[in-house]
Amino acid sequence: MAAPVAAHASWPASRRPYRLAGMFRTFALTVVFVAVGCTTSPSSTTVTCPTTNPPTYASFGQTFFATFCTPCHSASNVGSAARNGAPDGLNFDTEAEVAANAEDINMMAGVGPNGPNHTMPYMPGPVTTPPTDAQRTTLAQFLACEEQSSN
Ligand code: HEC
Repeated sequence: MAAPVAAHASWPASRRPYRLAGMFRTFALTVVFVAVGCTTSPSSTTVTCPTTNPPTYASFGQTFFATFCTPCHSASNVGSAARNGAPDGLNFDTEAEVAANAEDINMMAGVGPNGPNHTMPYMPGPVTTPPTDAQRTTLAQFLACEEQSSN
């Protein structure tokens, strides 16, 4: 009995450096994953801003939000009934408001390789026809362009 116990007692001292190295490696990998997650934007669809003919607020965003979103998400709708429950203060009347909420909007309505998001527009309500997936893909591209230009 004595020999195995003695051998076993000698383990921790020699193993400790390896365990610490393993723990550090796990920690380092976690940091890398978190950092990569933060730089992929918008993270919910991984769509990027096209280099040729990127959709702009004038060519796409303004009409898209007016058609599908501001019937609820507008400062001119006051009170829960008029807003159809859309959160107070979450309005998409201007390009600045859209840009400030790009990530959240993408997660609710953008379509891309990693994320077909159909949560918004909330239906039923004043919007009776939802955007097509092609329009949602352009939305994700437009939001990526907005995020790029605000960086
Ligand atoms: C019929 C009204 C209505 C329309 C139209 C509408 N929304 Fe909403 N929106 C809501 C409601 C209600 C909520 C709150 C949902 C909840 O809390 O579960 C909401 C919440 C949101 C949120 C916040 C979600 C969160 O949990 O952080 C975003 C972002 C959003 N909508 C984006 C959009 C976009 C983009 C459009 C247009 C494509 C749109 N909405 C169209 C009613 C609407």
